[in-house]
Amino acid sequence: MSRALITLDPTPIATPRRPLDIGSYEFEIDDGVICCGSDQHYRPDEPPSTAHRAFVQTVSRFAEEGTLRAVVLGVDAFDFPAISKHPRIMWEQQPSIAAEIAVVQAWMEEIKSVAGLACESIFIMGNHDQRLSSKISATCPELEGVHGMDLRDHLDPDWTVCWEAIANGPGINAVEFRHRHKSGHGAGRNNVLAAGRSVISGHTHHLNCTRVSNSLGHFWGVDTGTMAALGSKAFRAYTEMAQTGWASGFVVLAFAGGKLLVPEIAMVVDEEAGLVAFRGELIRVGSAVH
Ligand SMILES: [Fe+2]
Ligand SMILES: [Fe+2]
Repeated sequence: MSRALITLDPTPIATPRRPLDIGSYEFEIDDGVICCGSDQHYRPDEPPSTAHRAFVQTVSRFAEEGTLRAVVLGVDAFDFPAISKHPRIMWEQQPSIAAEIAVVQAWMEEIKSVAGLACESIFIMGNHDQRLSSKISATCPELEGVHGMDLRDHLDPDWTVCWEAIANGPGINAVEFRHRHKSGHGAGRNNVLAAGRSVISGHTHHLNCTRVSNSLGHFWGVDTGTMAALGSKAFRAYTEMAQTGWASGFVVLAFAGGKLLVPEIAMVVDEEAGLVAFRGELIRVGSAVH
């Protein structure tokens, strides 16, 4: 009885692809709405903030109206104090990395579930979000390419992860979204002057909208504030609970004919009561949409 020869496939096993660098993401919006919030610093030991719940309701509202074109999180969705370059402050309680990943996954899924599949879902990498990949990259670079070592392995792939997103560029209708550029109270205005176009950014936790007008037209510098509660444990130790001037909320950006109209701010006016001011009304947010 003859035996069949087994021929081994000479093709080498492919080396796992090295994680691609993230970059700039371009998209178009003609008519419709972008809901943009940032700096959630989600904590597994706190309930969802009023701003998060209002954001979910607002995204749901525009999705149901059929006008929602994109959800942009411009972000610091994670806080990751345990893997910060800054040392732990006294005996500050720091959530586990696993618990932080779980809570961010749950609350981003809540946003995506009401936004639907028809709109862009954009995640702009914030400095806190960078901490997981940066920590592993710095301390054990041999793990590059191993599943789970990159933050994106823990995010729903429906979210487009980038350093910046550009809507309707290039040209005077372009709107740039990024986590941060210039700092402080004047970030919105200084971002527009640096970029030469409208800029929507987070990081400062100030919730502002500034107009810069010149011979080319009107340009907007928008600080998206923070979607965290101002009293969140994420901020207590490093602010030493001082008055920061921050505000909790997010922005709604309406476009007509490819042009950004006047940006609208939704601002939390009472965290405990769940009250948010938007479009001249006081809205009481209900329980989170599931
Ligand atoms: Fe932040
Ligand atoms: Fe930040």
